[in-house]
Amino acid sequence: MPRCGAIRTRHLPEGETALKIGTPKEVHEGENRVAMTPDSALQLQKLGYDCAIEAGAGAAAGFSDAAYEAAGVEVIKTAAALYKAVDIVAKVRPPSETEAKRLTEGQLLISFFWPAQNEAQMKLLAEKGASVIAMDMVPRISRAQKMDALSSMANIAGYRAVIEAGNNFGRFFTGQITAAGKVPPAKVLIIGAGVAGLAAIGTSTSLGAITYAFDVRPEVAEQVESMGAQFVYLDFKEEQQDGAATGGYASVSSPEFREAQLAKFRELAPEMDIVITTALIPNREAPELWTEDMVKAMKRGSVIVDLAAEKGGNCKLTVMDEKIVTENGVTIIGYTDFPSRMAAQSSTLYATNIRHMMTDLTPEKDGKVNHNMEDDVIRGATVAHAGAVTFPPPPPKVAAIAAAKPKEKPKELTAEQKRAAEMAAFKAQTKQQVTLLVVGAALLLGVGLVAPASFMQHFIVFVLAVFVGFQVIWNVSHSLHTPLMAVTNAISSIIILGALMQIGSGSFLVILLAALSVFMAGINIFGGFLVTRRMLAMFQKS
Ligand code: NAI
Repeated sequence: MPRCGAIRTRHLPEGETALKIGTPKEVHEGENRVAMTPDSALQLQKLGYDCAIEAGAGAAAGFSDAAYEAAGVEVIKTAAALYKAVDIVAKVRPPSETEAKRLTEGQLLISFFWPAQNEAQMKLLAEKGASVIAMDMVPRISRAQKMDALSSMANIAGYRAVIEAGNNFGRFFTGQITAAGKVPPAKVLIIGAGVAGLAAIGTSTSLGAITYAFDVRPEVAEQVESMGAQFVYLDFKEEQQDGAATGGYASVSSPEFREAQLAKFRELAPEMDIVITTALIPNREAPELWTEDMVKAMKRGSVIVDLAAEKGGNCKLTVMDEKIVTENGVTIIGYTDFPSRMAAQSSTLYATNIRHMMTDLTPEKDGKVNHNMEDDVIRGATVAHAGAVTFPPPPPKVAAIAAAKPKEKPKELTAEQKRAAEMAAFKAQTKQQVTLLVVGAALLLGVGLVAPASFMQHFIVFVLAVFVGFQVIWNVSHSLHTPLMAVTNAISSIIILGALMQIGSGSFLVILLAALSVFMAGINIFGGFLVTRRMLAMFQKS
């Protein structure tokens, strides 16, 4: 009978209780990532674990055996020896047949697993008494974000998709006017604004392209726009837009919605230089969104990157893992290994995700796993435990990170309505200004009736200065507030000088006002220094 649920400790020396976590070299062809980095190993050791790695496992991601050894990791020559020596196996890809055979009773495997597609292996490992934590099953709840390896990998894929598109696109992203001619900016359309889509939007806008994005979930419009891209709205009644979020993901669209969506894409196709598709609905084939006729309508030299290639592609012309060029000169990229193409970065993020998972599994930091099936995240990700298959998990008790309230789609106004609205706003503003002027003039006259002429002269200058100063400062854009602070420091210095000259005056009122001016200008100057110091500290490495 398998010793269900317990993590084995049999190889440990007498009295020694720390478990060993080990990472083998990935066996999948072309996989460059590694699940443990020297940095993550240091953190795992702080949790009380011993660490081991197969020789050469980190080489393709740029981590040498020597770097692991320096971080206190035991380098083990072969995979077979590693599997025998460790209690916990952390890896990237789901185990191959040979790897699954190597796992034994009481061992814990942490890796991507895709349990819905990997049922036979899940059963096999459960029967053996091994536990399996599938990193792809970590629920999308706020607390689990640090373990969300799907998101950290999709983030890299989104970035890399834009870089790959740029590499295959013959022009600049940003528009330029040079002596040699005018270059129009590239137009990029990103379909699906999930994790990968948002990363692609960020990269595309920062490279200077005019970026458009579309998603069935209208609540992402605000996020898209805050990143400098334009959200593509459909002429479709909001309530019929049934791409509403379920657990942080989209659901299937109605045929009418799909038609409206395709019609919009058809309209955009001839204009777009680069299309990046990331649309996905969990546990389904990717929806076909970029049809053959849209590809045909695109300009020669345009590029499509289909991130959903592995799930059948959002464009049916996509060939998985390949780059093709159509007859009309459109390049379609269907690579499915974008994170592996940036292995140093993706390994670092993935190893951190694993380390956070281990932190949650080790609440006492004593090098022992507490596989708490009451914990939403651990339960959600565990697909085999205590001799049983534990997939699918019950829904998490906490709501997924999803629907913020959808942003209202801006109403399209007719030219007539726009003019009327502008006129009304102008009238209201003029009325307000005239009232202010009349009240101000009346107050001035009132003061003039009682005050001496010499006072009035200074008072009018003071009132005008306040008015001009207010107008100038109020209209300064936020980005210029720091230089503005420098200017106000100069003004404060002049105020202090003036006040110091008056402070020796015989009148108590003048002395009081001068002292108050010094005090307030001082706050402005020293407060400015403090704020600047704090701002500079934000850019300094800790
Ligand atoms: P996600 O679930 O965060 O985002 C998918 C987005 O597509 C969601 O915002 C969803 O609302 C949207 N969507 C669904 N149906 C749509 C439709 N009909 N029209 C427009 N938008 C629609 O997924 P994530 O993590 O951003 O991944 C995106 C894709 O990238 C997936 O297909 C994933 O498998 C793939 N991927 C590919 C990699 C590669 O190397 N090629 C690496 C990592 C992820």
